Amino acid sequence: MVEKSKMDRLTVPLLQAMKKGRQRIAALTCYDYTTARLLNEAGIDLLLVGDSLGMVKLGYESTLPVTVDDMAYHTQIVARGNQRALLVADMPYLSYHASVEEAVRNSGWMLKAGAQAVKIEGGVEMAPIIRALLAAKIPVMGHLGMTPQSVNIFGGFKVQGRERAARQRLLKDAKALEKLGVFAIVLECIPSSLARQITRAVSIPTIGIGAGIACDGQVLVIDDLLGLSPEPRPRFVKTYANVRETIRQAAGRYREEVRSGRFPDASHSYGE
Ligand code: KIV
Repeated sequence: MVEKSKMDRLTVPLLQAMKKGRQRIAALTCYDYTTARLLNEAGIDLLLVGDSLGMVKLGYESTLPVTVDDMAYHTQIVARGNQRALLVADMPYLSYHASVEEAVRNSGWMLKAGAQAVKIEGGVEMAPIIRALLAAKIPVMGHLGMTPQSVNIFGGFKVQGRERAARQRLLKDAKALEKLGVFAIVLECIPSSLARQITRAVSIPTIGIGAGIACDGQVLVIDDLLGLSPEPRPRFVKTYANVRETIRQAAGRYREEVRSGRFPDASHSYGE
């Protein structure tokens, strides 16, 4: 059992100890200060400033347009609200692909913005980048399976690892990432049986999203969990609230009361 007081910050080694202690890891994406504070109060272990930012907050159709500046800006904002969770920043498309130098410099900006680690998508082909990031003292989280930055290669946001060759490749990639020194791996939209096989094969935590129960932890996009994102939502999403409807109703009642002259009333106004 990993002992953490309420005020202790979760670190990369503590996260890894959670797998050894068979403590499951609860992770969520986060993009702003208010939510970071609330997720701390809820005891969430890991906050990911995901490049899903582009789709859920910036209105893009994919994560591809997200920039290093977007990510650094939102990482700074989340860091100000975060006291205890491990804070991981996603490296956006083209921030780590063109050269090792660019990868190190861009990832370094995320640490300067307040992240404790970065996440990059891809398998063994990312080896030179991962080595360079670790040499620059930047902890790296891996991401395998339905990696959204490869949407044009996959031809859509589709489940990966269903065919035998793809399963073997993903298992090999996971082992390679572990050997390279990544501290954890996100497994996105792969069959549960493959996620179980990978989780058993590596000593580092696996964090699933659409990857079943056998992973060492779970991550969801916060807007999905809150029921803020529009329907239809992917099969793997479980919504724990209907904030979309709450906002719609509250704003509708406000509009009604302003138009009818019921708000502001005397109890919301100042006397002499
Ligand atoms: O960008 C993101 O939010 C992610 C998670 C879905 C893992 O990469």
